[in-house]
Amino acid sequence: MKTATRVQQLSPSLSLSIDSKAKAMKAEGIDVINFGAGEPDFDTPEHIKASAMGALDAGFTKYTPSSGIPELRAAISEKLKTENGLDYKPSQIIVTAGCKHACHEAIMAVVNPGDEVIIPAPYWLSYPEMVKLAGAEPYIVQTTAENNYKITPDQFREAISPSTKMIILNSPGNPTGTIYTENELAALAEVALEEEILILSDEIYEKLTYDGAKHVSIASLGKSVYESTITVNGFSKPYAMTGWRMGYIAAPEWLAKSLDSLQSHTTSNVTSFAQKGAVAAYKGPQECVADMLKEFGRRRKRVMEMLKEIPKISFVVPQGAFYVLINIAGTGLTSADFCEKLLEKKKVAMVPGIAFGDDATVRLSYATSMENVEKGVERISEFVRSL
Ligand SMILES: Cc1ncc(COP(=O)(O)O)c(C=O)c1O
Repeated sequence: MKTATRVQQLSPSLSLSIDSKAKAMKAEGIDVINFGAGEPDFDTPEHIKASAMGALDAGFTKYTPSSGIPELRAAISEKLKTENGLDYKPSQIIVTAGCKHACHEAIMAVVNPGDEVIIPAPYWLSYPEMVKLAGAEPYIVQTTAENNYKITPDQFREAISPSTKMIILNSPGNPTGTIYTENELAALAEVALEEEILILSDEIYEKLTYDGAKHVSIASLGKSVYESTITVNGFSKPYAMTGWRMGYIAAPEWLAKSLDSLQSHTTSNVTSFAQKGAVAAYKGPQECVADMLKEFGRRRKRVMEMLKEIPKISFVVPQGAFYVLINIAGTGLTSADFCEKLLEKKKVAMVPGIAFGDDATVRLSYATSMENVEKGVERISEFVRSL
């Protein structure tokens, strides 16, 4: 028996498998510091949990409209208007099982077999796999540390072929923490419009920005770019709701109905009571987000302070998310060797950059306690100095 070709070419998610490995070592009693996780270490805020529990108690346990309950779609529409300057009606919002699912559905709905999708590297590792799943070809454009890991309009233009259908932008970015400015986004939008390329804008880390960096939604930059952009976002990172699987697509009118049909024949609605939790996340108090951001900010500062003292490695100051992408080229190791040896010798888990399309780097996630941050970076320092 054989599996379908579409799954044969998929690679498993390396970041999830490293996270599982580190968690398993921890469960065996090994003192592992896990810098591999892509999820906030905080618990979901109480008022969000209370809303979902209240919904369960009230028997809100049945199917909902497949694209989400009206209350949540309205709350998302309102949030996008007030916070992002985006005008999406509730009917243009599709509530999905996380932002990952949102990306997958968006790609499935617009990309044909044989199309090319431009992905700037280092990239979030699921993008190329999702593109392959749609029968299309990822076209990777290598960005540089010198340019803060941002694709330039010239690089974008050069990457375009007659088969190019879409570009995926992720700002703030995973694994780089890079944030595109409004001007940079406008310049990329100009190329996309000239060449009739769609934009998938993954804004999952929008609320995690530091040092005054400002997140801008590319679809807010004008009517034409709005029409050719699919915005995706979610609740996992800003509200520590990774396990809830709550995200959404905000799509132009021409696409929203197709997405609704796609979802109605695949997952149907996202868990009913989890949707009530998401309503509370957007409509409730926002101090929880500010508190988490403050703590992430403290750790980010400390990580950078400590990393700067380590020889043979360097990094670009990340402006957003909760990662530092460390350049390890000076150690002479591949990213996989570096991570394997570090885990074996010093019991610190990180994700090799090869998973993100950049073998010269490793990703450190500081979504763990300050105590772990300090202990873990100290171990990295000992490891690098021993090489
Ligand atoms: C860039 C990016 N997009 C999307 C996701 C998926 O998030 P969710 O948990 O909402 O599916 C992640 C998770 O790591 C991510 O880093």
